[in-house]
Amino acid sequence: MKGIILAGGSGTRLHPLTKVTSKQLLPVYNQPMIYFPLNTLLKAGIRDILIIVAPEHSGDFVNLLGSGKQFGARFAYEVQDHPEGLAQAYLIAADFIGDESVAMILGDNIFTHDFGPAVRSFKSGATVFAKQVPDAQRFGVIEFGQGNTVLSIEEKPAKPKSNFAQVGFYIFDNRVIEFARNLKPSKRGELEIVDLGNIYLKNKELHAEVLEGDWIDAGTFESLYRAATVVREKDLGIDMDAYRVHVEIKNVKKPMAM
Ligand code: DAU
Repeated sequence: MKGIILAGGSGTRLHPLTKVTSKQLLPVYNQPMIYFPLNTLLKAGIRDILIIVAPEHSGDFVNLLGSGKQFGARFAYEVQDHPEGLAQAYLIAADFIGDESVAMILGDNIFTHDFGPAVRSFKSGATVFAKQVPDAQRFGVIEFGQGNTVLSIEEKPAKPKSNFAQVGFYIFDNRVIEFARNLKPSKRGELEIVDLGNIYLKNKELHAEVLEGDWIDAGTFESLYRAATVVREKDLGIDMDAYRVHVEIKNVKKPMAM
């Protein structure tokens, strides 16, 4: 399975912090924000990762993360020229995804949940994740029926049908590329991730799991502050030693003695 970190967008809700840098590069206690979603993908066993960034700060992401070698992974980068919606990621990533399925995580989402089991057991369709929150109108909202069946998903509804937010981790099979190609922009002018979920829901191929542990969308001042405290308390930072690969240089020809 391929992985995507969606780390573009304009970050206007965090101005002036994001006037000269990207939201996903801001510090969260002791590490840059993007390390946390990266760690979540790596822990789930995903090693081929596309990082989608805004043009203004693309070089900074490459400087920070490099080729992926130091994380025992392989990184690719794409620029999203304008923030035209989360679902646009699948159009930008089409070549990278190839004929595989794909797990996408939002660059400002911090989890303690282990997505490894969901990634390893994924066969086809779509798997999305939900978490109970007090302010569901800020998010995509999942309405559950009996036995965890999904009845509806709506983006930022004024009157949420449940208090389950759809969190920023999505697993889709390869058809997501085709589905994204046929999406129309929503009223706010974006290709919406919930519209993709709704296609799978209509086909009865949408599976939703309720998350364990903490989830923070660190896109506001308050949640960014909370993220720092959770990261500090739970020691969530990336453990570089766990990923470091020791590259042996073999068969190096010795220079001829003069
Ligand atoms: O955090 C979970 C929520 O994320 C979901 O519940 C919502 O369904 C989903 O739409 C999204 O809502 P947000 O209002 O939090 O989305 P935001 O605009 O903050 O974008 C989320 C991340 O994706 C952020 O790191 C910026 C990046 N992004 C966003 C857009 C719209 C891009 O890279 N490109 C984009 O075009």
